[in-house]
Amino acid sequence: MGHGLQEALTMAAHKVICWDCGCDVDDPFVNTCPKCGGLLTVKMDLEPLKGMRPEDLHKAPLGVWRYAPFLPVDFDKRVSIQEGGTPLYRTDALAKEIGIKELHVKYEGANPTGSFKDRGMTVGVSHAKELGAKVVGCASTGNTSASLAAYASKAGITCAVFLPSGKVAAGKLAQAMFFGAKVISIDGNFDDALRLARRMAEERKLYLLNSINPYRPEGQKSVLFEIMDQLKYDVPDRIILPVGNAANIWAVYKAVKELQEVGWIDKIPMLTGIQAEGAAPVAKAFAAKTKDFDPENNPETVATAIRIGNPVSGRKALKAIYDTGGYATTVTDAEIIAAQKMLGRKEGVGVEPASAASVAGAKKLREMGVIGKDERVVCICTGNALKDPDTIIQNSDPVFKCANDIEAVKKILLG
Ligand code: F0G
Repeated sequence: MGHGLQEALTMAAHKVICWDCGCDVDDPFVNTCPKCGGLLTVKMDLEPLKGMRPEDLHKAPLGVWRYAPFLPVDFDKRVSIQEGGTPLYRTDALAKEIGIKELHVKYEGANPTGSFKDRGMTVGVSHAKELGAKVVGCASTGNTSASLAAYASKAGITCAVFLPSGKVAAGKLAQAMFFGAKVISIDGNFDDALRLARRMAEERKLYLLNSINPYRPEGQKSVLFEIMDQLKYDVPDRIILPVGNAANIWAVYKAVKELQEVGWIDKIPMLTGIQAEGAAPVAKAFAAKTKDFDPENNPETVATAIRIGNPVSGRKALKAIYDTGGYATTVTDAEIIAAQKMLGRKEGVGVEPASAASVAGAKKLREMGVIGKDERVVCICTGNALKDPDTIIQNSDPVFKCANDIEAVKKILLG
């Protein structure tokens, strides 16, 4: 072990600062800057890592906690259900179909609760426990609530989730109920639910674990660290992600900058965000070349996970995209469903609609010529197909109804 690794492995020194005005934020229960109202972020002290190499972390298995020196919570006190360590599939059939040289799919559906949210939640709930929080809560389009409910159970903390009524996919709703969260179905959309959850947090009635909490993106950085390990630090040209509340693309950006800071990479992937046509404030801002976005009042898409009109981290996402020479665009619901099917039928990989937006975006951007044919591309597929069985059933061929009889079976199979 190199000098400094021992300290680095317990908890990296860090502080919470305002992303907008840069001031230190000492109150651990606020989610915006007390001085300017800006967004918060965690500033990591990465000095102990500077003499190290990625391989120095390889004694730990691939997973979020391999990267403990980059995380702002105590490894020894972590609340973990073995998150991360998800496959990176090389999807040659898909690459051929889309017309690019090399395409990989980072399959976040393999996380404990079936989405990438577990990466942020292991860190967020560990921090909540350190703070002694008695009740944790979040608003969610489904995955965040499923993940928080599971980690709150593991930590022994009461959990409340605020969901947009009628717009949460069945698998996700079932998970939140199953893990014992208090499930509050709000007569409104995600943005409305988040407003109410934030209000409860401001009144200190719950500890908020939406991604506006700066500890959540810290855990989500690990998807980028894993991709780099899995590609043996041969930095891909582009990483494509679906964008909803817009924290994940920011987390990936932050991870890229941190790897650059410790000298482990010298090239930066173009971060590319994909939104559904009916819920696209970030993509529209990118098209208009602005640093801020206009919220949308009535977001709508089959990809309910990213049915968000007022993304909390929208400005951070735009910075991530501009700074890396990336791109943002929209895809239609039909393109999302087609991409979801293509992943299933060509690669045997099942993802939920929002996740398929990244692949639909890859296809569209290749057709537009934004992605060159020689690019090496990684699509992050954020959630498991089983999260939303209803959409799959609606968009698949009907089942064959069959009498309990061998001749009837033969008629169907052999014609
Ligand atoms: N993909 C899936 C499957 C998601 O659940 C989400 C967000 C995203 C992509 C977008 O990530 O918000 O960081 O830009 N789901 C949140 C939730 C909003 O409540 O589960 P983002």
